[in-house]
Amino acid sequence: MKEIEFDKERLINWYDVHSKNYDDESFVQNDERYGGDKYRIELVSNTLSRLGVKKILDVGCGTSEPMLRFLKEGYDIRGFDLSPGMIEQSKIKLQKNGYSPELVEVGDILDDNYISKYNEKFDAVIVNGVIPYLKDDNKAHENISKLIKNDGYFICVYCNELFDLMTLNKFTMRFHVKNFIEPLSIDQVSKNQIISGLKSLLTMHNKPELTKSGGARDDIFITSHNPMTIGNKLREYNLVVEDILFYKFHAFPPLLKSLFSEVDNLFVNESRKYEIKFARDWRGYFLASTFIVVARKKIL
Ligand SMILES: C[S@@+](CC[C@H](N)C(=O)[O-])C[C@H]1O[C@@H](n2cnc3c(N)ncnc32)[C@H](O)[C@@H]1O
Repeated sequence: MKEIEFDKERLINWYDVHSKNYDDESFVQNDERYGGDKYRIELVSNTLSRLGVKKILDVGCGTSEPMLRFLKEGYDIRGFDLSPGMIEQSKIKLQKNGYSPELVEVGDILDDNYISKYNEKFDAVIVNGVIPYLKDDNKAHENISKLIKNDGYFICVYCNELFDLMTLNKFTMRFHVKNFIEPLSIDQVSKNQIISGLKSLLTMHNKPELTKSGGARDDIFITSHNPMTIGNKLREYNLVVEDILFYKFHAFPPLLKSLFSEVDNLFVNESRKYEIKFARDWRGYFLASTFIVVARKKIL
């Protein structure tokens, strides 16, 4: 399967182009749209109120749909985003709702010069849906940690690498090759034999095909993280995981939707039953495509 390379200009352009439709595509929930990102706003909102934080920075704030909710809930929050198009939509929305458009600006979490202009630290830094688009997430984690005060919180969304195991498709194939086959201490010929054997077991190993509508995954670089090992990674940045919350559940492998179109509603309805209520359930490690990490900054 062809991997899409990271390209900053392409990423900015993708979000600029999609900025006007972003809210509809992400947050509207009806029969046609799952609107899974709405669940992340709910989960983050619950988390913020539980943690009792006040001053927050939203990294990659997008169109500010989540930020608007948190502003209404009384938090002192501001944000920045790489895409001028997203920031333009964000400013329009803030102004329309009676908040200052100056609360958001264009900025890059990977840009040391930009980050160094913050001479204050925050009770919490929210990073929702940004890390999966970055090639250099080490730099991002390093910069984010600098912006959190000691004992403050890091609330961050990752794509779930383990979800690839349940989809039984080309992503499952990629997962096996990368994690289970490539590390074997055998010659390449034997590895290739295992790979072709696996393909015969995994009859949908070429699916899903690229979509014509060009969902982000088919257009721009996106990477995923393993919820079982994310804690080790974050410790390198003095961030200690306290909670993991799963959302965007898939009640069964999405490929089955196209095999039996009549189960479409059933898929959506059954998947929705997991949302929020099962955010901490073990099934989330496999059925949810996305997870939120809540970590605390501790200088160890
Ligand atoms: C999936 S959207 C999420 C937007 C918002 N956080 C939300 O929850 O609706 C990802 C956002 O990350 C932004 N982004 C990507 N790379 C970034 C970077 N290096 N620095 C800041 N923002 C970035 C994109 O422009 C995009 O608006």
